[in-house]
Amino acid sequence: MQVTKAVFPVAGLGTRFLPATKASPKEMLPIVDKPLIQYAVEEAVAAGITEMIFVTGRNKRAIEDHFDKAYELEAELEAKHKQALLNVVRSIKPANVDCFYVRQPEALGLGHAVLCAQKLVGDEPFAVILADDLLDGDPPVLKQMVDVFNHFHSSVLGVEEIPREQSRSYGVIEGKEWEDHLYMLSGIVEKPAPEDAPSNLGVVGRYVLRPAIFKHIRNLKPGAGGEIQLTDAIQSLLQEEQVLAYRYHGTRYDCGSKLGYLKATVEFALRHEEVKDEFTAYLKQVQLK
Ligand code: G1P
Repeated sequence: MQVTKAVFPVAGLGTRFLPATKASPKEMLPIVDKPLIQYAVEEAVAAGITEMIFVTGRNKRAIEDHFDKAYELEAELEAKHKQALLNVVRSIKPANVDCFYVRQPEALGLGHAVLCAQKLVGDEPFAVILADDLLDGDPPVLKQMVDVFNHFHSSVLGVEEIPREQSRSYGVIEGKEWEDHLYMLSGIVEKPAPEDAPSNLGVVGRYVLRPAIFKHIRNLKPGAGGEIQLTDAIQSLLQEEQVLAYRYHGTRYDCGSKLGYLKATVEFALRHEEVKDEFTAYLKQVQLK
């Protein structure tokens, strides 16, 4: 069965960025000229996904506005013959893409957020994308993962090598390398202490999951931090079916952290047609100071 749906949990508080993003979701922060959520949707589109399911919350309406039709703006740009800008505005939501919104009434964790999307996902495999992990890959990382899913028909977790001392920021997997870049999972633990981490492979914000995961989320008791953890549901799913971890080809920018956000901004600016020359010159000038 094809993966045609992606779930974007955007109700999290973004506490590592507070107070700057208290009102609007951190996923609306722009990297150069597009919000993080736009990069995430474009990655999903590149993986063949056409139904975008946003799990939003209080004060997160900016996401809906972003993907909605902007009549006034379009009319104004049209009247002023600003065709290039009009094209940009119209490309935000490609015509073949549908957006759906569901609210997570309380921030009870990633697992709970994904469960909120169950009725919209139905009995199909689906992707989960955490848009504050900006992944830069060619082919795009989710496309790489959907290809793995289509081959093995097992749930696939995106992973990367992490410094052991940072294990408290990740779901960390235990598994055997099975093929190049591919691991057969035997366990997964949420945010372990470095001495308890079963490996140096941390889960990044990309998942392709089989719908059986919903049953496992539903049966969970609150885990680390009192939250319903997706990681715990995956550990439970593992008892029933095979789960794979895929060490993706590409680069990750953790835009939920200030440093990751800054790095992404610099890297994407250095290759942005409109600004790259002047920005490169500017950085050289800054370095001389
Ligand atoms: C979440 C997951 C964690 C995963 C991480 C990737 O944690 O719970 O397993 O490794 O995303 O970014 P969060 O960063 O939301 O605390």
